[in-house]
Amino acid sequence: MPKNFLLIPGPTPVPQDVLLEMAREMINHRGSEFANILKTNTDLLKKVFKTENDVLILTASGTGGMEAAVANFFSQGDEVLVGICGVFGERFAKICKAYGLNVKTIVTEPGKGIEPDVLEKALKENPNVKAVFLTHNETSTGVTNNLKELAPIVKENPERLLIVDAVSSLGAIDLPTDELKIDVVVTASQKALETPPGLAMVSVSELAWKFNEKANLPRFYFDLRQAKKFLEEGATPFTPAVSIFFALKKSLENILNRGLENNFKRHSLLGKAVREAIKAIGVTKLLADERWASDAVTPVIPPDGVNPDDLRKYIRSKFGIVLAGGQGNLKGKIFRIGHVGYVEPTDILVALSAIEISLENVGYKGIKGKGVQVAEEIFAQNFN
Ligand SMILES: Cc1ncc(COP(=O)(O)O)c(C=O)c1O
Repeated sequence: MPKNFLLIPGPTPVPQDVLLEMAREMINHRGSEFANILKTNTDLLKKVFKTENDVLILTASGTGGMEAAVANFFSQGDEVLVGICGVFGERFAKICKAYGLNVKTIVTEPGKGIEPDVLEKALKENPNVKAVFLTHNETSTGVTNNLKELAPIVKENPERLLIVDAVSSLGAIDLPTDELKIDVVVTASQKALETPPGLAMVSVSELAWKFNEKANLPRFYFDLRQAKKFLEEGATPFTPAVSIFFALKKSLENILNRGLENNFKRHSLLGKAVREAIKAIGVTKLLADERWASDAVTPVIPPDGVNPDDLRKYIRSKFGIVLAGGQGNLKGKIFRIGHVGYVEPTDILVALSAIEISLENVGYKGIKGKGVQVAEEIFAQNFN
């Protein structure tokens, strides 16, 4: 079997002890054993979310969690503001429109995050906005919005909801939900939580529940009130992805044993090493502005004349390394190195080496070792 290195920003590699949990036999999802697992996972997730709010686990991909974050808190025609830094901000806007909300947007250039003064201005110009939707880590452009700056601006009006997509960041990049008064945070199992895809998680503040009492948008599978009611009885409204619940429990225990802060540090080290290496290679460029550069994923602009998708195919076939392509308008223009979840410095060194060898092979001579050396130095300082 060829050795594979999965370096895409989700689904991310899953540690073997987590994978093995999924080989367990099925249990009654309405029995006491599942009730215990559900409670443990919910309690552990609250630690990762850094929240005392309700956390509800849905059997769905991250987009299901995003849909729940729209369908449960609003009524037809409500005005909302969506920050768009790439494909996933756009997705939030599309979901809001599909549910008949009146959507205002802030759109940034690819690679840039939201400036505090732009958000302030948009809120002044649209005083009826009931909620602001932001993407913590925009996976398509490798941009991490600075929520420590942005959240207080939204919360200048304490009655306004702040809803955050943290699908590709929660657990990897610090997001103190309660400290920042974020009402709804959405994440999913398959990124920083080192678990296979299949579960979305949504935290809900008291203010968000107040919105829920008045909200009249249609909902059924993603009715969070039902999810909360069933959780109180130790179950889920519908059949859950039981095996992923087993895996999630193991994974959350591992992450919290390792220490959440240590997880953030590892991601920040990986992010820094990748970015500095890409700069050192010289012919490759970073898409994301340094100020917002993500510690979960690095989008790279290849040298002129190199098709990123051909390069990825070559790297995959020769080295077994799977990198991600561009999404939306960036399709065919960039490739992305995922370094979120169960990724170690050695994975990064292997990927950088493969990128260098492959670029040399298509004519960019003299770059072998340049990025690897820089990354090694960054890692070595950390190992000392
Ligand atoms: C930031 C962000 N939001 C939302 C999603 C959508 O999640 P899913 O593909 O699990 O529906 C993704 C997936 O890549 C993401 O990276």
